[in-house]
Amino acid sequence: MKVPDIIIAVDGYSSTGKSTFAKMVAREFSFLYLDSGAMYRGVTLHAMENGMIAPDGTIDEAALSAVIEDLDLHFSREDGQTKLMLGGRCIEEDIRTLAVSSHVSPVSAIPFVRAYVDRRLRAFSEGGRVIMDGRDIGTTVFPNAELKIFMVADTQVRARRRFDEMAAKGQDPVFEEVLHNLEERDYIDSHRETSPLRCPEDAFIMDNTHMTLHEELVWVLGVIQGKFGLLEAPSLTW
Ligand code: DC
Repeated sequence: MKVPDIIIAVDGYSSTGKSTFAKMVAREFSFLYLDSGAMYRGVTLHAMENGMIAPDGTIDEAALSAVIEDLDLHFSREDGQTKLMLGGRCIEEDIRTLAVSSHVSPVSAIPFVRAYVDRRLRAFSEGGRVIMDGRDIGTTVFPNAELKIFMVADTQVRARRRFDEMAAKGQDPVFEEVLHNLEERDYIDSHRETSPLRCPEDAFIMDNTHMTLHEELVWVLGVIQGKFGLLEAPSLTW
């Protein structure tokens, strides 16, 4: 297996803007961006669509474990973008509903689900420069990542961002529900037994509660240049 030249691990709480940040870094510094949360969402979507999650949220773990190794979840790369596919179907939209968000944390706490996703993520990261976001990238998936970033932001601000994102997609979110879902996921993600969300000891911490995207770019430029020096600098034209 070809090991990636540089891995940047971006971890943090839900809706701290990890994917927006990671995509921006990927674009500016020519990294491949991989969204590990999308894989957990894909497994959850499959479980929901196949009756493995009861209305009360109970997960049929036996049924899921029987099919998980045959699940054809993969990223397709087109024009520098990565899209999550389930077999031949693009599921980028379907995995971002509140219904999937409500079930994904318990699904992602199941050890055999984590083992499956970790294996897929490592396989997709062969060679090149990769930036991956999630909850345990710097602690479990790539503990030797060259650069680790941990993102935090105020909970109300995060809920507002998620709410706006959903509204912009034509969904009809209720702020209190979005906030509740976020707090619930924070709790489950940081208290599960397998690979709980925690800040890697050697991570750079970014609190972006009051930061613009441009300020995030300036911040990461400093970190990347301090760390790697040789990477081509972004244009900073916007
Ligand atoms: O980043 P996101 O909201 O799309 O992630 C969805 C869920 O997946 C999140 O509640 C926790 C889980 N997750 C995880 O446990 N480990 C990761 N590396 C990424 C996501």
